[in-house]
Amino acid sequence: MTNNKTQTITVEWTTPSNLAIVKYWGKKDIQKPLNPNISFSLKNAVTTTRVNAKPSTEGGFTFFLDGNKKKAFNDKVANLLKMASALLPFINTHHLTIESSNTFPHSSGIASSASSMSALALCLIDLQQMINDESSQPLNLQNASELARLGSGSAARSLYGGWTIWGETPIISQSSDNYAVKLPTIHDNFMQIANAILIVEPKSKKVSSTQGHALMNNHPYGKARIKQANDNSLQLLKVLKTGDWNQFFDIAENEALSLHALMMSSNPGYTLLHPNSLKVIEEVRKARLEEKLPVGFSMDAGPNVHLLYPKYMEETILPWIENSIRPLCHQQEIIFDQLGNGPQKRISTELKKD
Ligand code: PMV
Repeated sequence: MTNNKTQTITVEWTTPSNLAIVKYWGKKDIQKPLNPNISFSLKNAVTTTRVNAKPSTEGGFTFFLDGNKKKAFNDKVANLLKMASALLPFINTHHLTIESSNTFPHSSGIASSASSMSALALCLIDLQQMINDESSQPLNLQNASELARLGSGSAARSLYGGWTIWGETPIISQSSDNYAVKLPTIHDNFMQIANAILIVEPKSKKVSSTQGHALMNNHPYGKARIKQANDNSLQLLKVLKTGDWNQFFDIAENEALSLHALMMSSNPGYTLLHPNSLKVIEEVRKARLEEKLPVGFSMDAGPNVHLLYPKYMEETILPWIENSIRPLCHQQEIIFDQLGNGPQKRISTELKKD
C-alpha cells in the first residue's frame, strides 16, 4: 500500500547515546566492525527526532537541528536516506522534514551520531510500517540497528536499553556484524552504572573518528588489536555476570588507553589527549588504590574522560569528584549520566484516510 490517500504522517522517537566499554575501532565492508564491541545506553544524553513525511514525487528532505536548518549534517542524513531507500521505498515518494534536538552539547565527548542516527533509523522504519498498514506489529529493532549502523557504526548499539553487543563473536550466538543485540542477564551492579562525563576540552577534535577508523587498515598492531578486543569482550561478558567492579575497571581502562595508543601508533600518528586527561587518569587510579573508591574511567576518541562508578556509591564518590576532578575540567563542566532504558516513542499521527 502506498501513502497516496494521505496527507502527512509524523513520528517522533527519543533514543540514547551509548558508551562503549570494549571499543569499536576499525571497519570492514560497509561499516562493519573489525571486532566485537560492548556498550551501555545512557539515560540523559538523548536525541529526539521528529520526521514528517509528506507525499511528493520528488522525495527529498529538510534537516533542522535545534530549530535551525543545519547544512553541515545534510551529507550524513542524505547518505543514510539513500541507503535506506532500497529497503524503505516511501523515502523516494515523500518529502521528509527531519527535526532533531540533543539534550547534550555538541563536542561534549558524548557520541551525538549514535543517538541521532539511531533516532532517525527508528523514525524511518516506523514510518514505512505505518504506510504499509503494519502499525500494530512491534518494530524490528534489529532492522533499526542495521540501518542506524549505516549512518554511524556506534549508532547500531543505541536501539536497546541496558547493555548491548555489536560484532560477531562465538560467545554470543545471536551476535552479528550487521546489527547489535541486547545482552541478557547482567549483574544488578552494572545495571546501576553511573557515568560522569568530564569536559576536559570542548573544542572539536582535530582528527575525526572516520579518519581514525581508516588508519586501522594496515595498522602495525591491527591483528593484535582484534585479538585484544575479542579477549576483552570475553572477559567483560563474564564480569558483567559476576558484578566485580575492579575487574570491570581493568577492562574499561585497558580499552580506553589502547584506543588512544592505537591512534598514537597509526601512520600518521596523532594524539587527542589533553594534559588534564592524563591528570584525571592519575587521580582516578590514586582514588581507587589509596582511598579504595570504586571508580574507573573510559574514553572515546577525544580528550574528555568518562568516569564510571556504581550509582549506589554516589554519596561517597561525589565529594571526591568535586574536590579532585571538577577543577581539572574546562570551566568546571561535568555532565552526569547513568545507564538508561533505551528508545522511547513520543508521537505518531495516524494515516488520514479519504
Ligand atoms: O560510530 P563512530 O564511527 O563515530 O565510531 C565511534 C568509535 C568510538 O566511539 C571511539 C568507540 C565506540 O565503540 O564507540
